[in-house]
Amino acid sequence: MVTFSEKAKAEFEEVLKRYPDKQAALLPALHLAQREFGYISREVMDYVASLLKLPPSEVYGVATFYTMYNKKPVGKYFIQVCKNISCSMLGAEDIVKHIEEKLNIKAGETTMDNIFTLTTVECLGSCGTAPMMQINDDYYEGLSIERVDEILERLSKASSG
Ligand code: FES
Repeated sequence: MVTFSEKAKAEFEEVLKRYPDKQAALLPALHLAQREFGYISREVMDYVASLLKLPPSEVYGVATFYTMYNKKPVGKYFIQVCKNISCSMLGAEDIVKHIEEKLNIKAGETTMDNIFTLTTVECLGSCGTAPMMQINDDYYEGLSIERVDEILERLSKASSG
């Protein structure tokens, strides 16, 4: 059975204080659960439902509606490249293609060593600095192919050292 660590339990208590309404607390609670467990499995959805005393069906509905919640395991670095209009006009497709070739995976896949997962997403609200991507919680903006290479190489080194 999945259970939050003591640290996550404390953060969950904070979420409840900030959002006394259980429905409103659901999104931050799922976010916390994703950080804690890596992805939102069915078991995690049941756990969050029990913590918030919400019907499991409501939690499944929300978790499956939002693409920001991973329903299956992802790599250590979860790369989300925005492919919406502004990013697309400024080369998002080339960036995705470049990452696919560099990591030898297709969008939606994870590298064999479980370091990187690549996906494409809709607008991340940073159109003014397009093209951009999000890796875990960080935004990388004004991307070029060279900058993408730098970022991936840095993360790759960080994960092996
Ligand atoms: S279109 Fe890419 S962040 Fe909005």
